Amino acid sequence: MIFESHAHYDDEVFDEDREVLLSSFAEHGIGTVINIGASMSGSEATVKLAEQYPFFYGAVGVHPSEVEELDEDSFEQLRALCSHEKIVAVGETGLDYHYPEPAVDLQKEWFARQLTLAREVKLPVIIHSREAAKDTLDIMQALRAGEIGGVVHCFSYAKEMAREYLNMDYYFGIGGVITFKNAKKLKEAVEYIPIDKILLETDSPYLSPEPHRGERNSSLNLPYVAKEIAAIKGLSYEEVVERTEENARRLFGL
Ligand code: NI
Repeated sequence: MIFESHAHYDDEVFDEDREVLLSSFAEHGIGTVINIGASMSGSEATVKLAEQYPFFYGAVGVHPSEVEELDEDSFEQLRALCSHEKIVAVGETGLDYHYPEPAVDLQKEWFARQLTLAREVKLPVIIHSREAAKDTLDIMQALRAGEIGGVVHCFSYAKEMAREYLNMDYYFGIGGVITFKNAKKLKEAVEYIPIDKILLETDSPYLSPEPHRGERNSSLNLPYVAKEIAAIKGLSYEEVVERTEENARRLFGL
């Protein structure tokens, strides 16, 4: 069944129909979901969702755009959440230079701290890197992130950068962007990345694939992503679903 490796079902846009939506997943072939914390409250909500739904697991972390809320106290709370039996990764964490805030130094500091936390609690990391390719890689290499393991979520860089992450044995989260007509660079990268390093993800509620671009996204749209990957790699749809599920289970130890 389809393994959704990155979604934010704690988001308030799901408040009105969350229960109905999530309960419909099994009949649509969605077998497992990793809900991703992007803030302290999101991480706490992730734990609750994972407790509520047997097919949900979680990652706890603070997104680079939210690191201003971190201090020693909240970071200790984050560490405590990592010991929950259904928490299988630290993240999302990384660098995002799309907006001028938060300051680069603050983003780097909390990215490094969360990588070190992942190492300490022995969980893989979910990396968010946007317009920050070189700095992300520099920090990961300096902290020997290859030993920690993880996935570069919503991978959006070119083949050359994919090679660097492959050298660290990382996985690549591929989502709706792969279906966009202007995603030529990403399609080339996906052609290059071995199928045993690819995970399916939506980043719901964001980044809906064609033909639903711009709408609220959900894991129900993952077949569009899997079909596009199948076409690029010359595999069957079923093979892509099966292999990406195996990959996710290997990475998250499920
Ligand atoms: Ni995300």
